[in-house]
Amino acid sequence: MNISVEKVASSERKNLEKLLQLYLHDLSLYFPITFDSKICEYKYDLNKYFDKNYAYFIKSSDDILGFVLVDNNLEDNYEISEMFVLNNYKGKKVGEEAVKKIFDIYKGNWTIKVVPLSPIAESFWKKTVNNYTNGNFRLEHTGKYNRAELYFKNN
Ligand SMILES: CC(C)(COP(=O)(O)OP(=O)(O)OC[C@H]1O[C@@H](n2cnc3c(N)ncnc32)[C@H](O)[C@@H]1OP(=O)(O)O)[C@@H](O)C(=O)NCCC(=O)NCCS
Repeated sequence: MNISVEKVASSERKNLEKLLQLYLHDLSLYFPITFDSKICEYKYDLNKYFDKNYAYFIKSSDDILGFVLVDNNLEDNYEISEMFVLNNYKGKKVGEEAVKKIFDIYKGNWTIKVVPLSPIAESFWKKTVNNYTNGNFRLEHTGKYNRAELYFKNN
């Protein structure tokens, strides 16, 4: 599959919001996420991804396969804050290919704080970052959930 990553335009925000709800529902398998029953939605503010941070769709031709949200914390300090692959495309290297493309766009210090209590997410990030950096990354486990954090440089 030919994977690309494309910045989400403001006019496409509604589509990102829909995918985000599926993502948050996936994450709620692992830890509680506030669901607003009045509007039948998980709460999440995407504003900063249409300002100084970045939102990307993962695509194959015109099909959307998922998304990646990148925080630009300080100059040359980047963090992948959220990422999601639709069930139809999971387990096909879509996530790994997409993330490598994102890493290649932004050069500097990278941090990934893995969603807590998800063995799949932790295995995904360890494998992907290990492959991308040839093992040159730091892994820590912190906090009450023993959350995995990965750090590396690519500049
Ligand atoms: C985590 C996620 C993005 C992975 O995307 P994906 O496209 O399915 O992953 P890939 O096919 O690129 O897998 C790359 C590696 O990740 C690991 N991995 C992926 N899915 C896994 C699973 N279900 N169980 C164990 N390891 C898994 C494997 O090591 C895999 O390499 P391998 O196929 O050679 O064994 C996807 O499962 C997802 O969207 N999950 C819900 C949201 C989420 O947890 N996001 C991460 C937030 S930090």
